[in-house]
Amino acid sequence: MKIIRSIKKMQSLSRQLVADGLTIGLVPTMGFLHDGHLSLIKTTLKKSNVVITTIFVNPTQFAEGEDLSKYPRDEKGDIRKIKDAGGTIVFVPKPEDIYPDGYETYVNVESLTQTLEGKSRPLHFRGVTTIVAKLFNITRPDVVVFGMKDFQQAMVLKKMTTDLNYPIKYLIAPTVREKDGLAMSSRNKYFDASQRIEALCLSHALKKAKQMVKENIKDCKLIKKEMKTVIKATCKTAKIDYIAFTDFETLAPTKIIKKNTICSLAVRLHNVRLIDNAKLM
Ligand code: PAF
Repeated sequence: MKIIRSIKKMQSLSRQLVADGLTIGLVPTMGFLHDGHLSLIKTTLKKSNVVITTIFVNPTQFAEGEDLSKYPRDEKGDIRKIKDAGGTIVFVPKPEDIYPDGYETYVNVESLTQTLEGKSRPLHFRGVTTIVAKLFNITRPDVVVFGMKDFQQAMVLKKMTTDLNYPIKYLIAPTVREKDGLAMSSRNKYFDASQRIEALCLSHALKKAKQMVKENIKDCKLIKKEMKTVIKATCKTAKIDYIAFTDFETLAPTKIIKKNTICSLAVRLHNVRLIDNAKLM
């Protein structure tokens, strides 16, 4: 497995791979990899000849006061995991090479970024689309896979891929969960054992929503009320940032559960902000 840190070297290797007729899969990550990331690598491996996994904790998607400096990092462990998952290339660029002094170009998807996560974290998606566009330009992928856990991110990046005419096959892989339902996230490592149990409030609330829809309850207000009760019962101190019901593709809000409705939520507990979602129909 190759580990590449220079943008120039990555660009020339990608050019060579394309010239050799090989298809390139890309899995962008911010490192501290868990089984969710590894499943993205495995999915990509099935669709392309080589897989480039990138590790880059992207400063432009963190607002001031967010957890950039304490974002968990474990480059050695990540590289070992990527190798074990069958990854072929790891690209680990330096922040000062990606954003040199005087950097001033950003990519922005206009309306999909105004809601949900974008409301709570105003410049977050501008940072995400900018880094992913740069990674597309550097690595020239044929296939890219993003995880469903960050479903708004997956939709925003899909729109960017289409709007900017990247000739890339765009895949979204299902959320990988722990046995008890907790969605895998690098941020789970901030919790001790009892907080970890409280973090189940998100998946429990989504389970409740699914159960209500199964019972033919379609009123989002009613479902939201019950979800709030479940969250408070699982974690007394949880602060709900939002519980939203929207269309899966357009993110347009809905009052009644219908085809393609997804419920997404963000909850802050013990100073950690978690997100999760479930398609309800
Ligand atoms: O989902 C993430 O880890 C990041 O937002 C991404 C897509 C790697 C961009 O930095």
